[in-house]
Amino acid sequence: MPLARSLSVTSLSGLEEWDEEFDLEDAVLFEIAWEVANKVGGIYTVIQTKARLTAEEWGENYFLVGPYVESNVRTQVELIEPTNPVLKRTIDKMNASGCKVYFGRWLIEGSPYVVLIDVAFTAWSLDRWKSELWELCDIGVPWFDREANDAVLFGFLTAWLLGEYVAQSEEPPYVVAHFHEWLAGLGLVLCRHRQLPVATIFTTHATLLGRYLCAGNVDFYNNLAEFNVDKEAGDRQIYHRYCLERAAAHCAHVFTTVSQITAIEAEHLLKRKPDVVTPNGLNVKKFSAVHEFQNLHAQSKNRIQEFVRGHFYGHLDFNLDKCLFLFIAGRYEFSNKGADLFLEALARLNYLLRVNHSDVTVIAFFIMPARTNNFNVETLKGQAVRKQLWDTAQTVKERFGKKLYESLLVGQLPDVSKMLDKEDFTIMKRAIFATQRQCQPPICTHNMLEDSSDPILNCVRRIGLFNSSADRVKIIFHPEFLSSTSPLLPMDYEEFVRGCHLGVFPSYYEPWGYTPAECTVMGIPSISTNLSGFGCFMEEHIADPTAYGIYILDRRFRGVDESCNQLTSFLFQFCKQSRRQRIIQRNRTERLSDLLDWRYLGRYYISARHMALAKAFPDTYLYEPHDPTSTTGFRYPRPASVPPSPALSRHSSPRHSEAEDNDEDERYDEDLEAEKDRVNIRQPYSMPFKNKLSTANGANGSSD
Ligand code: UDP
Ligand code: G6P
Ligand code: GLC
Repeated sequence: MPLARSLSVTSLSGLEEWDEEFDLEDAVLFEIAWEVANKVGGIYTVIQTKARLTAEEWGENYFLVGPYVESNVRTQVELIEPTNPVLKRTIDKMNASGCKVYFGRWLIEGSPYVVLIDVAFTAWSLDRWKSELWELCDIGVPWFDREANDAVLFGFLTAWLLGEYVAQSEEPPYVVAHFHEWLAGLGLVLCRHRQLPVATIFTTHATLLGRYLCAGNVDFYNNLAEFNVDKEAGDRQIYHRYCLERAAAHCAHVFTTVSQITAIEAEHLLKRKPDVVTPNGLNVKKFSAVHEFQNLHAQSKNRIQEFVRGHFYGHLDFNLDKCLFLFIAGRYEFSNKGADLFLEALARLNYLLRVNHSDVTVIAFFIMPARTNNFNVETLKGQAVRKQLWDTAQTVKERFGKKLYESLLVGQLPDVSKMLDKEDFTIMKRAIFATQRQCQPPICTHNMLEDSSDPILNCVRRIGLFNSSADRVKIIFHPEFLSSTSPLLPMDYEEFVRGCHLGVFPSYYEPWGYTPAECTVMGIPSISTNLSGFGCFMEEHIADPTAYGIYILDRRFRGVDESCNQLTSFLFQFCKQSRRQRIIQRNRTERLSDLLDWRYLGRYYISARHMALAKAFPDTYLYEPHDPTSTTGFRYPRPASVPPSPALSRHSSPRHSEAEDNDEDERYDEDLEAEKDRVNIRQPYSMPFKNKLSTANGANGSSD
């Protein structure tokens, strides 16, 4: 007999211990998203990081459903025979009817099962399914909208899969189907229309209209209640997509979104208030040595410094040891992501650093994918020149070492003036000549396809930050996601983030925002805003976020220029910190990791699933809404031993003046501080769910 699955969410730094046992024995969970094993943006991170916890809870009955993309499957998935006999029959039946459905294990933490559907293979059904969609709910999808066409195919195929699964089951199963984002939403609508016995959940990670409206020049948050949604969607030619999204939100048994701010947006734009807010978590890695993450910072920083040496060859007139690496990353939505504000603040920071004669140099990286035609020659040449200089130094070093050795062999101290001969000087001069450069170090690492209309490049042109020697702020635009196999900057994104000093994400539209959350768990301070889900979440749960290296920019109650001044001031204050202060700040930032761990945040997803099961199968499952006061959040207090801002922190050691280089000493002090500051807050939270049958039988929900 299969074991009843249960989940135990253990205590995390004083966050409440939570143990819930209930019977999921007969239930099956399908989680459906276009980003399953398919990296597009933040939704991929949700699915990929959450898989381990969900697989622990649902075991063999957890299936992720996504599109089949050959290149992804080759690198991320091990194709196997379906393990579940009902699912095997389902897939066989579909494949016999002209579909191509694959089954495998996704090679990530938790190794969840994946069902991957080749939508292109059934493209011959597109017209028929589009007509059906039109007849069913008057949604007409235009032929030229490729994404919407994919949404139609994926929707019909996932509904087919779920319907077939129910049909192939001998006993009616308790199926939960969790759909993410509008691209997967049609499957949900069809399940409800076909009256499949399936508990449905729809999670939106942004509203389509919100994203579009914000990207235009609209005062979004002050007019949320006023928009004529149909007209706005029509004006932007996304009416059909909007209809698919809204239909999914309304048909779902349970509707959820990732933050309170997006919940309000959804209520106005999709006209349904989310039932549950499911904040996004991460898999937090715990190192056995407390300061391991600091060492990783130092290692990764060295690699970024190597890249910078190459990029700025011939213009290395700044001290790399006094160089701070800032970055912004994510989907290339110039104003939604706040790249506009960041550039403007960098121009102001440049001015401040210059007039204050600061010896700090700031290098700001922009990692946002745009259309390119590969790396540009000048950038590649930079790395080649650096490599050549390195090789030259090695050659001369070897020749020098050989002469030294010969001299010692005959019992003589070397004549230092003869250690470098003419040939050595020739080799070195030749190498130095190669570093002569007529142009400034490039802003962009790639050849842009739309160079003249690119918003980042145009803004750089306007503010005049061209990497000149006089500038204290330099800019590098890398219009492609990072990869460890890149010939230019061979680092994956995580390594890169670890090596930087500050992540800057001044978003105007950001339902959650994984990038600052990822910074936090790696112990890297970040700037986010009170218009991002992450920023609001941190503001709600931490008494003094700035003390922990979580700077939250006010974009809600200030005008653009004022927000820009605040951002500039954050950046300038950051530049004024000593190395010791940065190390202390990183330690504090990293201490917040538990707050963002799925082990803690996963409970909201569990709650949503319980609610859906109870709504779809009321005779079997019971959902008892809990006392609303019991869910009021806890707050991390301001660290008792720490002044409000690291900029004000003072060291107790008499060696303070030499502190810059006494890292070990500082870290020890910070350990003591950490012990004093350990938070121990309990959030009273009880799961409102009971299995009705087992409760009636007097059991606790577990069948064994
Ligand atoms: N990211 C990445 N490689 C990069 C830059 C970013 O994988 O070079 C990932 C990053 O880890 C994050 C995601 O892109 O998980 C961006 O998610 P976010 O929620 O911040 O914004 P979105 O792009 O989805 O709007
Ligand atoms: C970590 C390392 C130290 C290093 C420091 C540099 O703490 O453990 O050895 O000196 O990072 O910090 P910075 O902020 O200057 O990159
Ligand atoms: C969307 C949002 C982003 C969020 C992500 C995951 O891409 O734009 O803010 O972090 O989904 O929920």
